[in-house]
Amino acid sequence: MTLIGNDVIELVTAASLTDDLRQDVFRGLSMRPKTLSSKFFYDKWGSELFDRICELPEYYLTRTERSIMRTNIDAIAGALGPRCLIVEFGSGASTKTTFLLDHLVDPVGYVPIDIARHHLEQSAARLAKRYPDVDVMPICADFHQDLPIPEPRRLQESTVVFFPGSTIGNLQEQEARRFLDRIADTTGPRGGLLIGIDLKKPREIVVPAYDDAAGVTAEFNLNLLARINRDLGADFKLDQFRHEAVWNEGQSRMEMNLVSLYDQDVQIEDRTFRFREGERTRTEYSHKYTRGHFQRIASSYLTEAAWTDPREWFCVLLLRPRTQEASEA
Ligand code: AVJ
Repeated sequence: MTLIGNDVIELVTAASLTDDLRQDVFRGLSMRPKTLSSKFFYDKWGSELFDRICELPEYYLTRTERSIMRTNIDAIAGALGPRCLIVEFGSGASTKTTFLLDHLVDPVGYVPIDIARHHLEQSAARLAKRYPDVDVMPICADFHQDLPIPEPRRLQESTVVFFPGSTIGNLQEQEARRFLDRIADTTGPRGGLLIGIDLKKPREIVVPAYDDAAGVTAEFNLNLLARINRDLGADFKLDQFRHEAVWNEGQSRMEMNLVSLYDQDVQIEDRTFRFREGERTRTEYSHKYTRGHFQRIASSYLTEAAWTDPREWFCVLLLRPRTQEASEA
């Protein structure tokens, strides 16, 4: 564990991230269909593009979640109670957390966790300055790994994991379950999980959110290849692939792909990968849930509260880990 600028706890270093990327790319491009992990979207430029996506007219997720939080902030703050330690997985620019911290009663600490170090450092520094009484303890890590949660100077009344944005939707059902179970270990029985999920809705609304008119999502998707070129010295030609966003009704999810426009070879370090004309490489799943479906995935929790918007496009849930006795009853 290394402390760097702004006291970021660094569990992922630039070197370990590159090793991780290499492994993922070699494994993913050897599979059929080819796949790449969405977590590698977030290099410096990718993180900026994502922030721009959040402001797009078609990308309803961020805007809807924000409005739910605003409308219900008193109930949310009341339910979380005083002296929380807030742990956020995939904190990015921490915009939503700022709003949360503004309304919580005497929060004792904030642990933003993100793989994008530059973004993390900047937002942690901003929050530390804004909230002198809150211990801001950023961790640069892949939140899929096991993480030691640092202790704030003042003892917390409860540990609350904040996981907004429907980021959970990137995971497939089994992974999501395991991930939620691990979060329950972090919060303990008295803590909670405040999570945002994107609800199932007509494809006419969902598809444009992942295929916007301005082409920002296309650039975000293609930037993954630019990143692999930079970090692994590969020779992807970005103009020989195109962005594709398709709705999978059976699995209730958006799927983002990069489609090869030609038969082509790509060199990555000492390996060559062949792409056929029209061949898809899957880069991201984004699942859309019914309340019931998500309830089944989060079966190790009890739902204390659920807040939604008038159109029921998005939902913010406060979940409490079931105690052993309760889940056996
Ligand atoms: C940050 C994972 C929630 O899946 O909607 C945005 C990422 N991908 N546009 C999502 C994303 C394409 C986003 N999450």
